[in-house]
Amino acid sequence: MRFDKATPLIARFKCRAAMIVFRGLTVHAALQQKNTDVDKPTPIVFKIHNYDLGAMTSAPYHDVALGRMAPAITCNCFMSEARERMHMPGRHFLQIPGPTNVPDRVLRAIDMPTMDHRGPRFAELSHKALEGIKGIFKTGQPVIIFPSSGTGAWEAALVNTLSPGDRVLMYETGHFASLWRALAQRIGLAPEVIEGDWRSGVDCGKIEDRLTADKAHEIKAVCVVHNETSTGCKSEIAEVRRAIDAAGHPALLLVDTISSLGSMDYRHDEWGVDVTVGGSQKGLLLPPGLSFNAVSEKAVEASKRAGLTRSYWAWDEMIAANEKAVFPYTPATNLLYGLVVAIDMLNAEGLDNVFARHTRHAAATRAAVRAWGLDVLCANPKHYSSSLTAVLIPEGHSADKFRKTVLENYNMSLGNGLSRLADKVFRIGHLGDFNDLMLMGTLSGVELGLRKAAVPHEAGGTLAAIDVLASENGGAAIAAQ
Ligand SMILES: Cc1ncc(COP(=O)(O)O)c(C=O)c1O
Repeated sequence: MRFDKATPLIARFKCRAAMIVFRGLTVHAALQQKNTDVDKPTPIVFKIHNYDLGAMTSAPYHDVALGRMAPAITCNCFMSEARERMHMPGRHFLQIPGPTNVPDRVLRAIDMPTMDHRGPRFAELSHKALEGIKGIFKTGQPVIIFPSSGTGAWEAALVNTLSPGDRVLMYETGHFASLWRALAQRIGLAPEVIEGDWRSGVDCGKIEDRLTADKAHEIKAVCVVHNETSTGCKSEIAEVRRAIDAAGHPALLLVDTISSLGSMDYRHDEWGVDVTVGGSQKGLLLPPGLSFNAVSEKAVEASKRAGLTRSYWAWDEMIAANEKAVFPYTPATNLLYGLVVAIDMLNAEGLDNVFARHTRHAAATRAAVRAWGLDVLCANPKHYSSSLTAVLIPEGHSADKFRKTVLENYNMSLGNGLSRLADKVFRIGHLGDFNDLMLMGTLSGVELGLRKAAVPHEAGGTLAAIDVLASENGGAAIAAQ
């Protein structure tokens, strides 16, 4: 069947344009009524742009036109801006701090026929993935791979190790730390929060003081976000470990590395972490869809006594199945193909080189920000993140308007300010599959956007970044500047 240019399609959408996927075929549709309120789901007539839908014989045209297929279409609806940008020439710059650009090699690895996840070929794949990922976490212990976003791995870390009402010490470094705290509360834990200023990482002295005061050892776990994606501040996990040990406290150490793993130095075993939470969509070079729990022996022991209800997230079934290179439920097979290739790419570059590259790019980005006369949100040089930089927009200006200008004029997505930082900062992601020229393109886009949006700034940020990138030891010597 063929839909020609004028074929109307009626569906209920909350957007101005959509990508519709029918039986594996992708169709781009644009909304005709430009003035429709996009927040109100209303019947909308779409015009299909001359796509041949030859394989759609089982989705008769009149079903689509009458709106009977609407629910299926709605599921595959994308926000309008993304589709409208389809017509902009050149590649979109995805410079949010994750999900990040997926390398072509990984995309090609994922683009495989679906496989039998109980067959011999899968065993080979899963063995490679399960063994390979240990090197990225720097652990000899099991790493559990869930088909989920990072939030699932947060929940898994808690439900496997703790019991209802357990007190957990959670350091609020920013938006993601506070989301993790909210999750802990919802599943029946008693989080105790050390408040941060959202401009620095963890103050380990505060953790040590609180644990020292907890003579009865009521606190069962300490939860820290290694790299707070909302602020661009990292925390020193080895120092958190030392603080716990100095207090002589038996609490477990749970660490979120969702925006640092594969971008910033991280050592699960050496730093004595009990559960490390990870996600696929940032430094790990993959699309969203996989999450991880690296576990210590102490965490596995704790899981045998932990009383919180769990089923999907249960480690015991997963570990037992993984020992036979299978999963207790259907794994994300195609993402595992990608994972094996991504691990290979990280190892081929060398993890230390990967970390040094991120450090250099972060230093060059900060040099640009300073030359523009703007402020980096992270106020403590020791806590600068290597994977993203959050930049404060000058008083009286809107970070979101600025980001919109950049998107509409230069086809680049920058990260927005989250919760209390909404409209106050924009975030430049410089992590994942990224090189010097991509960074220069990114910073040029920011500088062009500052001009176009009339945000007060000095010229020359991009030149300052070039100076850093061109310097002999661009990384090490300037990392903390
Ligand atoms: C540090 C951190 N933790 C947790 C999350 C939540 O992960 P997800 O959105 O994959 O559920 C994110 C997402 O960006 C994050 O950056």
